[in-house]
Parts: sequence; C-alpha cells; structure tokens
Amino acid sequence: MKRAAVLVSGGGTNLQALIDARRMGKMPSVELALVISDREGAFALERAKQNNIKISVLRRRDFASAEAYDHAFCNVLKENNIDLAVLAGFLSIIGPATLGAYRKRIINIHPSLLPAFGGKGFYGVKVHEAALNRGVKVSGATVHYVDDEVDGGEIIAQKAVAVLEGDTPETLQRRIMEEAEWQILPAAVELLCKGEL
Ligand code: GRF
Repeated sequence: MKRAAVLVSGGGTNLQALIDARRMGKMPSVELALVISDREGAFALERAKQNNIKISVLRRRDFASAEAYDHAFCNVLKENNIDLAVLAGFLSIIGPATLGAYRKRIINIHPSLLPAFGGKGFYGVKVHEAALNRGVKVSGATVHYVDDEVDGGEIIAQKAVAVLEGDTPETLQRRIMEEAEWQILPAAVELLCKGEL
C-alpha cells in the first residue's frame, strides 16, 4: 500500500473523487494519508476531516522565504512517509527542494488537454475561458508529472470532453470535472501506486 498526500487550495472536488474511489475499492493500492493545504479556509480541509484524513496547513506567509517554505513542504512529506504527492486544485508552486526529493513522485491534474491552455496563469475557470475564446471543439483534462516547468511535466493520462454549443466557462469546467478529472485522477493514482513509483 502506497501513502499518498493530496495537495489542495480550494473546494477539493478532486480530493472528493479520490476519497470516493478509495471507498468504492477503485484505489486498492493507495492510502490517502495526508491532505496539505496552502490556505486554512479551503473547503477541501472539511472533506478531509469528514473522512478522518490527517491535515496539514502550510501557508507561504508563515515562512520567511520561498526556500523555507519549500523545505517545510518537503519535511512534511518525509515525516509522513509519503510515496506520492497529488496536486488537486493546488495553486502554489512546488519548490526545487521538494521537486528534487520527490522526482517522478508528484503529479497534477490540469483541466485542459496539455500542452494546450497550460502554463503560468492558466488555472481554474481561466483555462476554460481561453479554450472557448479559441473556439476549440474538444477540451478535457490531463494528469501529468510535476517538474520545474509549470504544467510542463511528462503526461500520464488524458481524457477528452466535447465542447457543446452554448457552453460557458462554468458549464465546460463542470463537465470536464465530472467526465474527465474525477475519472482520470483516481485511475492514474492507482496505476502509479500499483507499479513502482
Ligand atoms: C479544477 O478545475 C482542477 O482541475 C484544478 O483546480 C480546480 C478545482 O479543483 N486543478 P478542486 O475542486 O479544488 O479539486
């Protein structure tokens, strides 16, 4: 059984998908050992508490520098014997110390078919605004390794979702979450934890 930490900043619907997958026996190789948030008010923390998952809040402003924050992050993962860090709606950047210690053991879910609509500034509903403005007929979600280039890591899984007539950024975001994100993230986590990380 591998130990996963889920990194969150907001609503935690992807965390919920992982919790539900675990309960339905779809992630037998993974234990959701820890939820780390970069802000104390994230509703994702309520979801963790409701499911008796240990939580840790690491706010950037509590640390003197980006380096100190990076090392604190890395230490929390090590102290909890984490095998895989799963960014799920996480908005902070992972620092070099953590990236180095957890190479190929940090993944992220992004709400587009990378490399399209990825990189700096592309997060949340902004991703879908850009996709609709461009006029794409198909979008979707991507699970990828996290490396030092934002949304640039090797791709692990993707799922396409049709863009429908009259879609707004919000309706597209919701459908991509329901039909893509919440499906491919648990599947990718199980795949990685079943194999050798
Ligand atoms: C989702 O669009 C996810 O793809 C992105 O952050 C948004 C919120 O995720 N990474 P969650 O509901 O907090 O899991």
